[in-house]
Amino acid sequence: MTPTIGVFDSGFGGLTVLRALIHRLPQARFAFLGDTARLPYGSKSRRTIARYAAESAQFLVREQGAEFLVIACNTASALALDAIQDAVPVPVLGVIEPGATAARAASRTGDVLVIATDATVQSHAYAAACRTQGLRALEKACPLLVPLVEEGWIDHPVTAEVIRIYLDELNAEAAAQGLDPDVLVLGCTHYPLLRPLMARAVPAGMKVIDSAEAAAEAALRQFGARIAPPAGATSAPEPILRCFATDSVDKFERLGSRFLGRPTGKVELVDLGG
Ligand code: DGL
Repeated sequence: MTPTIGVFDSGFGGLTVLRALIHRLPQARFAFLGDTARLPYGSKSRRTIARYAAESAQFLVREQGAEFLVIACNTASALALDAIQDAVPVPVLGVIEPGATAARAASRTGDVLVIATDATVQSHAYAAACRTQGLRALEKACPLLVPLVEEGWIDHPVTAEVIRIYLDELNAEAAAQGLDPDVLVLGCTHYPLLRPLMARAVPAGMKVIDSAEAAAEAALRQFGARIAPPAGATSAPEPILRCFATDSVDKFERLGSRFLGRPTGKVELVDLGG
């Protein structure tokens, strides 16, 4: 049987990563879990994020039989990748390193901007990953953006204004530090939904990097060869997808299709405890 790829996020922003994965591995079987009852992770401590993320990973591996995991959450990737790897016996891919690798490929000046949740920024995981790529990264927390996306305000004047203020502050800080950034990394799985607004708000010539696309490319390299199409398959493959959430399944079904670019199907409620 085709192996299952488990994809996990604190909410449904990670469906942007699943969408990019389905595009590259249409013949695969996917189980997606959004830990919506405990969202947001981005304002919590490392210890709490690690516990939530490890429990979520165990659900996907033990109960859904996932043979690979993609941590489609920047906050969990930044603060809990080790804890997740310790909790499950399968290969685990986070989104930070692929994002930094994509930034390296896109930047000519070697200076990049990263926007993310509070927890991701405080961990400096992006700065460290960028440093190993020879890049200088200036990071900024943008805590108002996740609630705006969760509200579905992805093309709203209020969201556009919030983005403009955050990016003006970040560009001013970069100038004060003598940096010459030419890349903006969207270091949160919710932000790709704001990409059109971001593209309008960045200075001319600045490239916007989406860690969802970069993570899907990395997954393809890491697991792609093991996800073979069924023997004798002739027609275009259809992905097999099950979505789970720890709360708000109706909202997940309503908004999730926007993130996924196709219907989520019936979202199943799971209880991972408090
Ligand atoms: N999924 C989180 C991330 O990519 C954002 C939402 C949260 O704070 O839980 O960082």
